[in-house]
Parts: sequence; C-alpha cells; structure tokens
Amino acid sequence: MKPTQRLRRLRANETMRSMVRENQLSTADLIYPMFVHPGSEPRVPIPSMPGVYQHSLRAFGEALDAVVASGVSAVLIFGSAESKDELGSEAHSENGAVQQAIRLAKDRYPALYVIGDVCLCAYTSHGHCGVVEGGAINNDASVEQLVRVALSQARAGVDMVAPSDMMDGRVRAIRRALNEAGFVDVALMSYAAKFASALYGPFREAVDSAPQFGDRRSYQLDPANASEALREIRADAEEGADVLLIKPAAPYGDIIFQAKQLTALPVAAYHVSGEYAMIKAAHERGFLDEKQVVLENLLCSKRAGADLLITYHALAVASWLE
Ligand code: PBG
Ligand code: ZN
Repeated sequence: MKPTQRLRRLRANETMRSMVRENQLSTADLIYPMFVHPGSEPRVPIPSMPGVYQHSLRAFGEALDAVVASGVSAVLIFGSAESKDELGSEAHSENGAVQQAIRLAKDRYPALYVIGDVCLCAYTSHGHCGVVEGGAINNDASVEQLVRVALSQARAGVDMVAPSDMMDGRVRAIRRALNEAGFVDVALMSYAAKFASALYGPFREAVDSAPQFGDRRSYQLDPANASEALREIRADAEEGADVLLIKPAAPYGDIIFQAKQLTALPVAAYHVSGEYAMIKAAHERGFLDEKQVVLENLLCSKRAGADLLITYHALAVASWLE
C-alpha cells in the first residue's frame, strides 16, 4: 500500500522547512533574570548555576553593559537582604539593593526594560514569601507588605513589577496602590500560576530564601492541579495583571497553553533555576548539547503559547540567534 498522505514533502529541505515553520525564537522575547546583593563582593558565584552571579551594585552596572551589548532588552531583578527580619522590611527599603539597582539601570540605560521582583522571602528571617503569624501565613498582612515593595520599586523608576509570592488579592491591591500614587504606567506581570516545584532549589540557595520551617505549599500551586491553575490565571487577569507568568516552564507546557487559550493577555514562561542547572550539569558531563537543548526547550514554550521567555540562558540565546 502506498501512503495516501506524504507529510515528508514539507520536510524535504531547509528551504521548505523554514517556509512552514510555525514558531521561532526572537531575542525580543527574552527577559534576563539578574541578582544583586547589598555586599561589596563584585560577583558571588551561584554554585549550582554555572555562569550566574550575585552582583554588587558596581558589578551590576558592568553586567548591564554585557546585557545591552547582547541585544537582550529586558531584565528581571532579584535582591537579597543585608539584615532579615520577621516582616521582610528591607524588601521595601528606599536604599535596598533592588531599589538601587533599578535606579542605576534606568540611569545608565533608559531604554532597557527593567522589571522588579516583588516578594518577601529573601528578606524575611523565616524565609517565607509572606508575613508569618502564629506559625501560619497571614495573607492580607502579606499583601500590605507586598504593596509597599511594589511602591518602593515604582519610586525607584521600575518599568514593571512582578509579584512572585502567590498571595490572594495582591494583583488588585498592587494595581490600585500604583494607580493612587500616580504610577499608572508601571506595568504588572503576575506570577499567576506558580507551582510548588523542586526546581527552585538553586535559586533559593543563591538568595538564601529557603523557608526555615515548613514549605511553600500553602501558597504555591500543587503540581497535580491544572484546573486550580486556571482559577489563578483568571483571577490575576481580572485583578488587572498586564502579563501572566507561568512557572516552571518546560514541565508545565499544558498550563502555558491553557493560559494562552483562556485570556488575551501576553504569557511569560519562566525557565527556572533548576531547569538551567539540569541542562548545565548534563552539558558539563557531555551527556547533552547545551545549545540544542536550550533552543528546543524555549521554542517548545513558544509553541505552547508563551510570548515572553524568562531564562538565565538569555545572553547565550541572543548570541546563538545572531
Ligand atoms: C520566590 C521566588 C522563587 C523563584 C522566583 N521567585 C523561588 C521560590 O518560590 O522559592 C524561583 C526562580 C528560579 O528558580 O529560577 N518568590
Ligand atoms: Zn518569595
């Protein structure tokens, strides 16, 4: 029997393959996560993330030169604390590492798109993303703190705030506070569906944000739940998010797909620290080809429906796409 359909005609050569290619990666989609710390050590390596560093402010300025030279046009800034306390107060200090980094970045490169991470976990003594009272997270007290963090970043000149905490109602509260303070043009990217994943390990090591008791399962999503993720996505869209973020990325392509189907908002996929670490480790041992695996993983997130890609590989990807 001869085949009745010959799909291979469209795969015969690269000219035809590129004519029918449905998705492609672009440097314009990339967001590069960066770490600043309040100390003076210029570049503190993150052991499980080869090539990623926590920067002092001065070194951060130099690192931005490399970002801009690569063609990547957006950065997501994470900080860490000089002194932690119960409420994570340093997260909203006018002179916190992130607030200073935002000012420095917008001063040095006004056209660079600067996004600030809004959370408490790197600043709280207990390592949770919210305010702890009697051994449990107080949702509404946490939201009040998160609003302060977002406002402090807006005053520093941030283009977009990105709350990563997963408290209920924080998107509406932050949007309202920004509007009332006159920051109507500061955008908001919400971590809409953030799962309680084992893939955040390297990140927590970097910013010393592992919870000191319990875990994050009372606020981050159960990896078993897709319908519940859709409720989170719908809620954040209704509360006024401009961009919806899904994380982790590669194992959660179904959630990315559904977020894209459910709303008209742009969707961002966050390829997290553990995804980066796995590829780097396998590459170092000669088990996988880093470049091919990274490009494939990111392309698959686009195919699933992601518009934006947050990845520690961003600068390498930009150079590969050149
Ligand atoms: C904390 C936060 C985490 C990440 C971003 N913000 C980790 C966590 O929830 O413990 C993970 C990023 C990564 O792993 O690359 N709000
Ligand atoms: Zn957090």
